[in-house]
Amino acid sequence: MTDITTTAKELLEAGRARLAAAADLDRFVEAEREILGKKSALAALNSRLRDLTPEGRRVAGEAIKAARDALAEEAARLRSDLTERHRRDRLAAERMDLTELSSAPPGPVLDWSGRGTGHLHLVTSTRDELEDTFVAMGFTVAEGPEAETDRYNFEALNMPPDHPARGMWDTLYLHLGDPGQVLLRTHTSPVQVRLMESGQLPIYAVMPGRCYRRDTPDARHLPVFHQIEGLVVDRAITFGDLAGVIEAFTTAFFGPGMHSRLRPSFFPFTEPSAEFEVTCPICAGAGCRTCSNSGWIELGGCGMVDPNVFEAVGIDPEEYSGFAFGFGIDRLAQVRSSLSDMRALLDNDVRFLSQF
Ligand code: DAH
Repeated sequence: MTDITTTAKELLEAGRARLAAAADLDRFVEAEREILGKKSALAALNSRLRDLTPEGRRVAGEAIKAARDALAEEAARLRSDLTERHRRDRLAAERMDLTELSSAPPGPVLDWSGRGTGHLHLVTSTRDELEDTFVAMGFTVAEGPEAETDRYNFEALNMPPDHPARGMWDTLYLHLGDPGQVLLRTHTSPVQVRLMESGQLPIYAVMPGRCYRRDTPDARHLPVFHQIEGLVVDRAITFGDLAGVIEAFTTAFFGPGMHSRLRPSFFPFTEPSAEFEVTCPICAGAGCRTCSNSGWIELGGCGMVDPNVFEAVGIDPEEYSGFAFGFGIDRLAQVRSSLSDMRALLDNDVRFLSQF
């Protein structure tokens, strides 16, 4: 055994001990450089090889390489251990104590000490309440995408290209796909089409969701708002069923003594179509400013599913019939809570939001 081989073994042992002793990542990096770097004792050994015989050089060279490989392997393992420990220490140090926050009693959000707890937004809680009411009546809840194609938002709803009724909805188009083909849905009615297309009949479903229109915001309009759609498709469904469901919903949601009525209207996807009104929830029908003294508030549209819509989704209109309805959730919240300006719903002013 040449003394180079012995030295290499000694350097290996010393290096191992030195690496293992490094208490943190910085010190480890320093140790690693000293042991395996260009100026390390191990590297210096290489320069002594040239004095040896070819055979001695081979043996000693292998010993140096073995020591270097073993140290490099050890260093890699220690480095990953230390990095992991470093990460855990950092996370533990940065961890915030939230126990005080979460154990604070629920209360108004107005407490600027940061201890108040929040609650659902008025529109969200109204949507939840609507869902609960319909679910209790036997409906399921379905959802669909907010970015839709022309087919779902218009065409399958009995509005071929250039149909004048498309003008009822000021539409925001997306620069996606073919020009004019992808848009932000202007109503929740496209979810009807998706549901009917899925082919599972009968359907008793409500479909809440966000909608978009190219509208200037004002006291009664938001360009981003929410609707809830209802759809029933079964054998022998009649207009009487539609009127009955609207009435049952009105009483269940607004309370006893609250009623609904229908007025003739037009929607391309329903025939016949109607607008439905409910007893004014502010004056309970007595007449007030909100309902312009009529005692009624217009809520949404409805009607019997047009046979053309059934054909577009592959349902036989001779065998099935159905009705649909849709109304604005934000509008409903506005009426029920007597909000003079709908834009307050989007301002995120906690003094407003905490009142509901
Ligand atoms: N989609 C209509 C709108 O946004 C509302 C509506 C009317 C939905 C009649 C329906 C319906 O399902 O049958 O103005």
